[in-house]
Amino acid sequence: MIGVFDSGFGGLTILKSFLEKMPQYDYVFLGDNARAPYGGRSFETVYQYTLQAVKKLFSLGCPLIILACNTASAKALRTIQQNDLKKINPENRVLGIIRPTAEVINQYTKTKNIGILGTAGTVNSESYILEIQKLYPEIKVFQQACPMLVPLVENGEINNPAADYFVEKYTLKLLKQCPEIDAIILGCTHYPLLINTFKKILGEKITLISQNEIVAKSLNDYLFRHKEMDFRLTKNSTVRFLTTDDNKVFDERAAFFLGKNVKSETIEIF
Ligand code: DGL
Repeated sequence: MIGVFDSGFGGLTILKSFLEKMPQYDYVFLGDNARAPYGGRSFETVYQYTLQAVKKLFSLGCPLIILACNTASAKALRTIQQNDLKKINPENRVLGIIRPTAEVINQYTKTKNIGILGTAGTVNSESYILEIQKLYPEIKVFQQACPMLVPLVENGEINNPAADYFVEKYTLKLLKQCPEIDAIILGCTHYPLLINTFKKILGEKITLISQNEIVAKSLNDYLFRHKEMDFRLTKNSTVRFLTTDDNKVFDERAAFFLGKNVKSETIEIF
């Protein structure tokens, strides 16, 4: 099975695109809802929580895990890949969602000025700046943390004046840093749920980049190039949903992220 992990519900936006593009695989989605949001937590805490989730997904039979969370990709991925994987299972793989997004960013900007909106954790890690500079040194990257957006989305408060207020506040702060920004990465898997609010506030001139399709294409390419991994993945088109919190609450909210009903199970990962 392919494991898909997020701190909460945001990763379901990525899973949705996986199911559209690669419906043949079996997936296990794990949301650490009991401890979400991760956005304001320290490096060490995000790393420990993510490592627990990775170990759990490995033990459930996932040789490949996608951290469908920018905060976990920014703060935990590298250490897990470089230090932990060889101790737990060197044949298994854990992939993130920042690198695949950085790889295609040049296709979206003419002015070579792009903006990143993300959690405080993602922004402070500077992971996007580092990845994009390695690939495209000519592109300038500006960032803005949006700490109020994840709580709004997690609580389903997306079509109301509070969402408009905070989206406007954060995008104005970003554009103030550089008015020539012509593309903005929604660098948190929760933000695509607010895409209509972003569009309403920013208009047509700025390209909004959601990661879901980019990450799905990148995973599809990865599995094409890594036949040894593809061979280990079962293909019965099933999805299992796991949450560390109340599964009834998960089912209600997940339907809103995924656009269809789900039946989850509560598990402990720590
Ligand atoms: N969905 C996570 C991300 O992409 C953030 C949510 C959180 O703060 O836990 O960054």
